[in-house]
Amino acid sequence: MTTIGIIGAGQMGAGIAQVAAQSGHRVLLTDVSLDRAETAKAGIAKRLARAVEKDQIAQGDADAALDRIEPQGDYAAFADAGIAIEAATEREEIKRAIFAEVGKALGPDAILATNTSSIPITRLAQTAPDPARFMGVHFFNPVPVMKPIELIRGLATSDATVARVEAFANGLGKTVVHANDAPGFIVNRVLLPLLNEAIFALGEGVANVRDIDTAVSLGLNHPMGPLTLADFIGLDTCLEIARVLHEGTGDPKFRPAPLLVKYVEAGWLGRKTGRGFYDYSGAEPVPTR
Ligand code: CAA
Repeated sequence: MTTIGIIGAGQMGAGIAQVAAQSGHRVLLTDVSLDRAETAKAGIAKRLARAVEKDQIAQGDADAALDRIEPQGDYAAFADAGIAIEAATEREEIKRAIFAEVGKALGPDAILATNTSSIPITRLAQTAPDPARFMGVHFFNPVPVMKPIELIRGLATSDATVARVEAFANGLGKTVVHANDAPGFIVNRVLLPLLNEAIFALGEGVANVRDIDTAVSLGLNHPMGPLTLADFIGLDTCLEIARVLHEGTGDPKFRPAPLLVKYVEAGWLGRKTGRGFYDYSGAEPVPTR
């Protein structure tokens, strides 16, 4: 059992907290306020209750997992953490400010890991308390369901750090893959062009939202169409990743679709804001184009 500190209690942070607690770890869950961390814990309680209803886990195990999650209003308790995982907004300046703050609380052996989906680990390591004990640990959404974890080492990450994080990731029952510190790592390097191209196709009038999603979902046997998936991930996150790929490689093939930029500028960020390529205000999502 390790104490795991989690920074950011959104869909990724809460998912990581849930799987870590279900694997027997003590979890310190933080966000910009204690209130947000507590709301995230309430969401986890609901998901665990549904899993009990479906007979996927025993009531006692759900209760024990929930008890292991401790919402925190600051990082003071992170002095006990073996591994701290940052899962905050995908913006470099926000992550850097967090690392500076968390670094003051972490013990001398603690590992700081980031769930960034695309920002270079070596660059982020500059603000970490110790670049040797810093690396990327990239989970997928929804965390309790998705199998892989990408592990990314920065230039200065030590072998011991990789070994400890790999043991933790395997202990969660996930499948570990190793990626080099290249823009987008593996999955997003491959996924973002698909999502971005679907948005180009929509913007160029190739087909409407429903037909693009139906065609790609059924034609490629994907569980979700690309526009549904972009809304699910968050269009702001998609845009951030597209920009990292574009700037990091200098390759124009990664340029963000103008319609993606427009939607983000409009504040239409997908599911989390109630509108993206679909309108989520009713019982069923309704395509907007
Ligand atoms: N949290 C936890 N569990 C969830 C969940 C959530 N948000 N959403 C769905 N689930 C679980 C359900 O409880 C259900 O579990 P059981 O079968 O054990 O009961 C299971 O997922 C299937 O759910 P549903 O039957 O409700 O719905 P579905 O069959 O339509 O599946 C889905 C939902 C799992 C999300 C599926 O549509 C899917 O796999 N979509 C693709 C997801 C994907 O591509 N994720 C990667 C995004 S990219 C990323 O994360 C990286 C990045 O950096 C951007």
